[in-house]
Amino acid sequence: MSKVATAEVQTPSISEDLAEIVEGLLLPQKTISPKFFYDDIGSKLFDDICELPEYYPTRTELAIMRDNIDEIVELIGPRASLIEFGSGSSLKTRTLLAHLRELAVYVPVDISREHLQLAASGIKTDFPEIEVLPVAADFTQQFRLPNPKVMPLRNIVYFPGSTIGNFSVDAALELLKVMHHEAGKGGAMLIGVDLQKDVRILEEAYNDAAGVTAEFNLNVLRRINNEFGSDFDLQLFEHRAIYDYAHGRIEMYLDSLCEQTVSLAGETIQFEQGEAILTEHSHKYTMDGFATMAKTAGFEIKKVWVDAERLFSVQYCERS
Ligand code: TRP
Repeated sequence: MSKVATAEVQTPSISEDLAEIVEGLLLPQKTISPKFFYDDIGSKLFDDICELPEYYPTRTELAIMRDNIDEIVELIGPRASLIEFGSGSSLKTRTLLAHLRELAVYVPVDISREHLQLAASGIKTDFPEIEVLPVAADFTQQFRLPNPKVMPLRNIVYFPGSTIGNFSVDAALELLKVMHHEAGKGGAMLIGVDLQKDVRILEEAYNDAAGVTAEFNLNVLRRINNEFGSDFDLQLFEHRAIYDYAHGRIEMYLDSLCEQTVSLAGETIQFEQGEAILTEHSHKYTMDGFATMAKTAGFEIKKVWVDAERLFSVQYCERS
């Protein structure tokens, strides 16, 4: 695979990561940020989650993209700059890249330089005619777009996977504002948004029978042990995912099976039996709920595609 030059933006150092983990575990509601899931094993397990029979989002979103690709291409128009929030090596991204007309440039943006480099090289290999300009940046903050060879007619911000759901409602709004900024004048956003539905479907999607999601969740403790020398005993924690109606979100936890202490970076972390570490939220939106938020961020929803069962949506939003 060909090496692709990456625009470097300041990304957090290892000691900043450790400080953030320690700080989160000393909160009254112990918390580990979901961004720490994705070491090599975590990324591999996440790919496995996307293939699970219970995990409907990935396959449903891909089907929506494939079924409506002509209309999507028409709305985006020729010679756009496609700016993907996240590394984007997936089939969804490839479906878009294969169909867009005279794409000016593809700009994947990700905080992990390794994921970014790998994804960008893969895309470059499979789409040699497309200019790929990766940007290593924390996309929750505004960043500078690279200068492509071909002048784009407009910017399209692409944010698949319902990753928007992994942000709190306040943070999601702030992120949409960043996207609004990066889309620029005349720009638009194409975003995957998971929808509220029968609680059984939701809870099964995050509690698969094969236990892959449990393994993925627990892997964050293994990673922290490996990278920061802590002594989490993975046998003494258990995966739990529940749907919280009041907040319209799946909450993922690691429950301590007994009273125990864990040492990390000179701190002793105390656990009661049953005490939980929060590792992720996955918000599910109603059509109205998402529309209101997008509108507040300055977008107008022009088109929404859903599957026949209305499990998932892909939404095309222009700057209003
Ligand atoms: N954003 C997707 C979701 O919330 C994918 C995802 C992120 C996920 N973290 C996860 C899926 C943890 C399962 C478990 O569904």
